[in-house]
Amino acid sequence: MAEIEKKPIKITETILRDAHQSLIATRMTTEQMLPIIDKMDQVGYHSVECWGGATFDASLRFLKEDPWERLRKFRDGFKNTKLQMLFRGQNILGYRPYADDVVEYFVQKSVANGIDIIRIFDCLNDLRNLQTAVNAANKEKAEAQVALSYTLGDAYTLEYWVDVAKKIEDMGASSICIKDMAGLLLPYEATELVGALKEAVDLPIQLHTHYTSGVASMTYLKAVEAGVDVIDTAMSPFALGTSQPATEVMVETFRGTPYDTGFDQKLLSEIADYFRPIRDQALESGLLNPKNLGVNIKTLLYQVPGGMLSNLTSQLAEQGAEDKFYDVLEEVPRVRKDLGEPPLVTPSSQIVGTQAVFNVLMGERYKMATKETKDILSGKYGATVKPVNEEIRKKVLGDDAEIITCRPADLIPDELDTLRKECEQYIQQDEDVLSYALFPQVATEFFKYREAQQTKIDAGKADTENGSYPV
Ligand code: CO
Repeated sequence: MAEIEKKPIKITETILRDAHQSLIATRMTTEQMLPIIDKMDQVGYHSVECWGGATFDASLRFLKEDPWERLRKFRDGFKNTKLQMLFRGQNILGYRPYADDVVEYFVQKSVANGIDIIRIFDCLNDLRNLQTAVNAANKEKAEAQVALSYTLGDAYTLEYWVDVAKKIEDMGASSICIKDMAGLLLPYEATELVGALKEAVDLPIQLHTHYTSGVASMTYLKAVEAGVDVIDTAMSPFALGTSQPATEVMVETFRGTPYDTGFDQKLLSEIADYFRPIRDQALESGLLNPKNLGVNIKTLLYQVPGGMLSNLTSQLAEQGAEDKFYDVLEEVPRVRKDLGEPPLVTPSSQIVGTQAVFNVLMGERYKMATKETKDILSGKYGATVKPVNEEIRKKVLGDDAEIITCRPADLIPDELDTLRKECEQYIQQDEDVLSYALFPQVATEFFKYREAQQTKIDAGKADTENGSYPV
């Protein structure tokens, strides 16, 4: 029998970013991560996803950590492994479109502090929203990976995905990611999709999915057989459920096949041993909800990401309207259609979800529209794949509202200088202005906290010098 050509499958480890974002609300601290990164560095991962997404916000807001400092510590520790981040196109790591100068500066500083691969996506798959970030990444000699935000719907045919993939190749990206944030990609559909993309473009294809609906590891198997180059997995203590398939399981699945990773299972098990108590602790404290670990078949029924389901639950609980959960779930696809059938990923998932909650609780659809709903309808987020519902647009914006059809960022004047002036008094490093740009209030609070800590330390030092020790 002719020997099949060896093609080891490459693996991106997500435990330091998506896995804990998906399972424990992004609360893993740098201190919890650092002791194990030396071992992780020996595995042979294609990359470790460790930054971006919600980690930036969560570090500043909840952990009182400087996200830039975390990145520098990763860079020091990971001597052989590429560091990867997730980047929301023109929205950077925030929730609104920024001016090009902020996007460019953010990319520049991310690379300067240690990032090798930037996975860039847009919640509408409007590639115009990715061009500035892709150009900036290329300029900084980082790998610009462009992600297709995967979703289902009338507009999302195989031809659509192939067409977008070709455009991604033309725009100068280094690789393509199929980003299936809701776990909707079924195994045999992965065969078709990956096959079609491999045929259409020359760029490496990476697949990112979530275990939420229970099909993810089978989807990886079929995708790998169809020629996908890289898959995203998480070490078992933070795998499955709303997170990714387990690294060790995928490694073992391909052992002895042409796709064999060659990873040392003993080393992986030592890494898993390290993370297991962190998971147990999270279960005990309630941070890790056992519900998030099971299979949620509703994601296939309602086609919404797991994170969005839990957001809806908490929004309704705040209003004392938990009984409206299924009404809201049924309203979600209707709102999504009204807004041009966008993929549901940050920030479109929040926009559609919140509007669906309003529509149900107010007893009349679009009696109240959020600012973000208005912005999607007026084109401020970019072009939607399908046209928006004209009737709803008129109801929300009025008859003669101005509709944006150009690249939205073309209308945003440079803002870095203004931002710098606004937070001048707190700046201790170049990167601070970027933290402030993304989350002005949260960053300011963090800067004040940081100053207070430094004052405390200085006071402690002074006391020590005087011979008296701080208690
Ligand atoms: Co994800």
